[in-house]
Amino acid sequence: MLVAGNWKMHTDIDAARTLARDVADSVGDPGDVTVVVCPPFVSLSAVAEEIAGTPVALGAQNMHAEDAGAFTGEVSAPMLTSAGCRYVILGHSERRQYFGETDEGVCAKIAQAHAHGLIPIVCVGETLEERKGGRAEEVVGGQLVHSLRGVTPDNPDRLVIAYEPVWAIGTGETATPDQAQEMHAFIRGRLNEQFGEKTGRALHILYGGSVKPGNAAELFGRADVDGGLIGGASLKGEDFAAIVRAG
Ligand code: 13P
Repeated sequence: MLVAGNWKMHTDIDAARTLARDVADSVGDPGDVTVVVCPPFVSLSAVAEEIAGTPVALGAQNMHAEDAGAFTGEVSAPMLTSAGCRYVILGHSERRQYFGETDEGVCAKIAQAHAHGLIPIVCVGETLEERKGGRAEEVVGGQLVHSLRGVTPDNPDRLVIAYEPVWAIGTGETATPDQAQEMHAFIRGRLNEQFGEKTGRALHILYGGSVKPGNAAELFGRADVDGGLIGGASLKGEDFAAIVRAG
């Protein structure tokens, strides 16, 4: 199980420090659950200090595919590792929707993350319109094919997939456990095809979209749901810790 908090564009540096301490205290010993927090770039170093010596790991919310260069406003993989990151979220639907992120761009970033020892959390998911049109699997399948082209994780811990139906993000509307399981099983099938069953079975597929303390256990109880990518509920230490315990 893996539970990651995506803080999105919330918390200044002081608030990030406070939240990081709160998460580490509330989570305590997470047992078999890997716990990750992904604050905004400017707070990465501060959060790294706060979670040092705790089981909580650090992730970023995005990165550029090049090591360095004239890319104003961008942040590179070596910068993230120097800030203490072990994970990086790539291809979040908000990046796709508002910042023109493409599957091909995500693919380049995955290779770059791997080249620098970062574990990418690769997001896929359909919009409401696509789901209503019966195209959810086609859309998610396409995202997987194009963003994972040429990807060969040297072990299953080096790649995480997050299924985040766009219609469930920040809306309070969650995929039902059945809907989540159905799509996760589909994703698992595709991963098995690409990486072989042994690796496919071991890869973590997270569910994201309005996961709360009250619905986490039921979602995480499904066979192919290996944890969650948490937005709103990751901004409260106690709520996030309750979700980790559900894991
Ligand atoms: P919410 O948990 O706020 O719906 O956000 C989910 C998400 O986008 C995590 O990356």
